[in-house]
Amino acid sequence: MSINIAVLASGRGSNLEAILEAIAQGKLDAVVKLVLVNVPGAGALDIATKYGVATAVIPNAGMTRKEHEEKVIAELKKHELDFIVLAGYMRVLSSHLLSNFKDSRGFFKVINIHPSLLPAFPGVRGYEEAFEYGVKVAGVTVHLVDEKVDHGPILAQAAFDRQPDDTLESFKARGLKIEHEIYPQVLQAIAKGGVSFFQRHAASDVTADRETARR
Ligand code: GAR
Repeated sequence: MSINIAVLASGRGSNLEAILEAIAQGKLDAVVKLVLVNVPGAGALDIATKYGVATAVIPNAGMTRKEHEEKVIAELKKHELDFIVLAGYMRVLSSHLLSNFKDSRGFFKVINIHPSLLPAFPGVRGYEEAFEYGVKVAGVTVHLVDEKVDHGPILAQAAFDRQPDDTLESFKARGLKIEHEIYPQVLQAIAKGGVSFFQRHAASDVTADRETARR
């Protein structure tokens, strides 16, 4: 089954491009209905145009969060969307916005990619903070979004080793390459089988149930 998505971005849009390329190559059964950015001139706009995808620019400068989000919600609601996909969208989504995109079990139909092995290093400097901390193993996380920053049920993670001669640039480049592989793969898994993750358990629990939710 094909899924309809909107991609929200703030910057260069390399994850958007990986998603659009996977679709073009027949590896991802999805339709990007809309690319929405909050930063005029963001690189993601050029990428959307190159692939013939509709765009919307809704700058947040000079607006309250509520005013901005109402415009974003109105734009998203113009489309029949199965999921909102965040790809470097550097805005925290309020519970009001999220509540407009809930599945039948109360999870938000909003997916994010983050450049660390969450819950380590949330925020806007995932790679930088992991590198500065001196981690030996770094990684990326794709997760369902909840009301907290870079938080919510984990859909997939992939790790990579820090090499002794890594610079921040080489470290980031290795992570980004993994992002570009894992994000389309996770979306394809959702298109084929719905959203799947391990339910969080208290430390005293012996087993973890596999939680699978179909849209
Ligand atoms: C990516 O590294 C993504 O993981 C990160 O922003 C970058 C966007 O790059 N997201 C976050 O840090 C979310 N907290 P892109 O515009 O080239 O896809």
